Amino acid sequence: MKKCFTLASALVIIPALFLSFTSKGQKKENLTDTYIVLGWNDLGMHCANKTFAKMCILPPYNNQFSHVIKVGNTTTLPEVQSVGSGVYVTYEVPGNTYSVGKTDFWTYVNTLFGVSLPPNIGLTGLGMAGTMHDSLNYFYAYGIPITPYTDANLVTEDPFQLTLLKAYDAGNNLLATTQNTIPVSNEISCVSSGCHNSEQAILNEHENLPPFNNPPVFCANCHADPALGMPGNGTTVYFSQAIHQKHGSITNDCYKCHPGPNTHCLRGYMKIIGKTCTDCHGSVSNVGNTIASGRIPWVGEPQCGSCHDANHSENPGKLYKLSTGHGGLFCEACHNSTHAEVTSENANDNLQNLTLQGFTGPLKKCEVCHGYVPAGPGPHGYNPLGIKPVSGTIPDASELLQNYPNPSSFMTNIPYTIKDEGQVRLEVYDLFGNKIKTLLDAKLKPGEYKAELYTGKLSSGTYVCNLLTNGLTYQRKILVVN
Ligand code: HEC
Ligand code: HEC
Ligand code: HEC
Ligand code: HEC
Ligand code: HEC
Ligand code: HEC
Repeated sequence: MKKCFTLASALVIIPALFLSFTSKGQKKENLTDTYIVLGWNDLGMHCANKTFAKMCILPPYNNQFSHVIKVGNTTTLPEVQSVGSGVYVTYEVPGNTYSVGKTDFWTYVNTLFGVSLPPNIGLTGLGMAGTMHDSLNYFYAYGIPITPYTDANLVTEDPFQLTLLKAYDAGNNLLATTQNTIPVSNEISCVSSGCHNSEQAILNEHENLPPFNNPPVFCANCHADPALGMPGNGTTVYFSQAIHQKHGSITNDCYKCHPGPNTHCLRGYMKIIGKTCTDCHGSVSNVGNTIASGRIPWVGEPQCGSCHDANHSENPGKLYKLSTGHGGLFCEACHNSTHAEVTSENANDNLQNLTLQGFTGPLKKCEVCHGYVPAGPGPHGYNPLGIKPVSGTIPDASELLQNYPNPSSFMTNIPYTIKDEGQVRLEVYDLFGNKIKTLLDAKLKPGEYKAELYTGKLSSGTYVCNLLTNGLTYQRKILVVN
């Protein structure tokens, strides 16, 4: 049966062969597969001080992620490349190749962090270009020491620059490229917002402590800061608690400190529909007070799921930036980072999905990854085919027909007919009564329909498909041979 299926699918592959002939009529050496690479930043903004002579709140430190996907077709699912595949990804920021001189970080890094770093190399050993590390099904680069200044303009901040990611196979053949935002800002405005006279004046605010005579001072040496993995010295509160509690009675304007009046780090779809920082985070005092009552800064954050339904929320107990959805892909791979969810106000945030699918917004065009439009549930169950009848015939009876091919090893079609309009559920169980998948739960009009079940990852054996409509259940056995 497996052979028959392969043979049948060869018919589908033939047109693709023609496409592999170049315009000169020559066949390419290898019938290479198509790949895409998706890149994203974990946060909507990474902040850093520009000068470290007096104090360090945050060092230059940016995080970049990517998935490499071998595009599927009607006989294979998209394949997310993982450790061991030999695939690797390089990053660079065209037009921004160095950081020394754009910040004085390297002058003070030894005093602040107790390490000596070569010029332009950040705290994790990465530079402005390099190779990403690989993990289970994604690639990452923590600690890229980027500044908001391009080589061409050392004066005006450019907070939304683009990285260029290149994916290669084990033989160093270029598979795919992409560009995505690597946001960074120096707009930490303690002084420039007109609040503090100087950075020295800020240090002098610690009235109960001996004066800080040997700047630069690293705030996180005493105030614990999970963003930097600093545990604090135990004499005082989390940095976030100290800052927000102290300033809550002075201002409720987050842009006084978070970048900022020029940068506008909040720019995603939630911003476009009118949400502001306090809608999701509460007031400045609330940010501090919730830490006093147990919230861990950077770990306990607002949730998409507090406004959106369970089908559109984080994985239980996980941050959005760490959650995954359809196909095991990171939410951010399709949606971009928090505060910059596509469609975003910023064109650079929208560029990747626009390039891949021809329109902005979350990645929803199935062909980008699958090479065609599968009939099964896509991201959050969405399917552009809708549930359209496969023919205009109104059947005499509701019926669940035998699936084909049967047995199946990759995908099987499940035809069914609906006589009366109503709610229809199509479910697949194993022989122990465990539900494997809900293929459909929707209101349908009378008609002839077809669902698809992907069987490639199921163990060999017998499964039961149930069609529930108008209070009646219809059953068929499905055989899987893998
Ligand atoms: C040597 C340890 C130490 C360092 C370094 C340090 N702090 Fe503090 N900080 C404390 C202690 C202890 C307190 C509480 C006592 C006090 O207010 O003097 C405090 C209190 C604060 C408060 C006031 C909290 C409140 O609610 O009143 C703020 C704001 C603050 N620190 C900010 C900073 C900033 C900004 C930096 C870096 C420039 C920094 N601290 C560096 C030890 C430190
Ligand atoms: C007085 C300056 C200041 C103001 C005003 C301010 N922040 Fe912050 N905020 C900071 C600093 C500095 C940090 C970095 C703390 C750290 O590194 O742990 C921070 C970190 C945070 C964090 C991450 C840490 C955490 O507690 O989870 C959140 C969330 C946050 N701010 C939200 C807000 C919101 C929302 C507002 C406006 C309602 C606001 N902040 C206003 C200075 C400020
Ligand atoms: C404070 C409530 C709130 C939070 C928190 C929130 N959203 Fe939304 N979101 C909304 C509202 C309201 C809409 C608009 C719904 C509409 O337009 O019908 C929306 C719409 C969207 C859309 C639809 C965009 C489109 O093109 O139609 C996406 C995607 C989205 N949100 C993603 C997220 C993500 C990701 C998070 C978490 C990082 C999040 N939202 C957190 C309230 C919220
Ligand atoms: C629509 C809701 C929403 C709005 C508006 C919003 N935030 Fe957030 N914010 C979130 C969510 C959700 C997270 C947690 C992201 C995660 O789980 O990965 C977060 C996380 C953060 C963090 C921690 C670092 C990070 O990015 O994960 C900071 C700092 C922060 N927000 C500051 C702000 C500031 C400042 C504003 C206004 C300029 C703002 N937020 C507006 C929803 C929002
Ligand atoms: C493979 C791409 C993909 C992944 C991965 C993905 N989404 Fe989505 N998401 C979409 C698409 C496409 C839509 C819009 C669907 C539509 O238009 O009906 C969407 C819509 C949303 C919405 C808006 C819902 C509304 O009411 O309009 C939210 C919120 C959301 N996703 C959150 C998440 C979260 C949280 C995760 C991770 C747990 C995630 N998404 C993973 C593609 C994805
Ligand atoms: C960003 C890439 C991406 C996009 C866009 C995407 N998918 Fe997928 N899809 C995947 C990956 C990856 C898998 C998992 C393959 C595996 O399990 O090995 C998958 C699996 C599936 C499966 C089979 C697994 C299951 O859950 O039964 C179906 C059906 C599916 N996708 C439908 C869709 C539809 C419909 C769309 C368009 C609305 C879509 N996908 C868009 C990447 C994508």
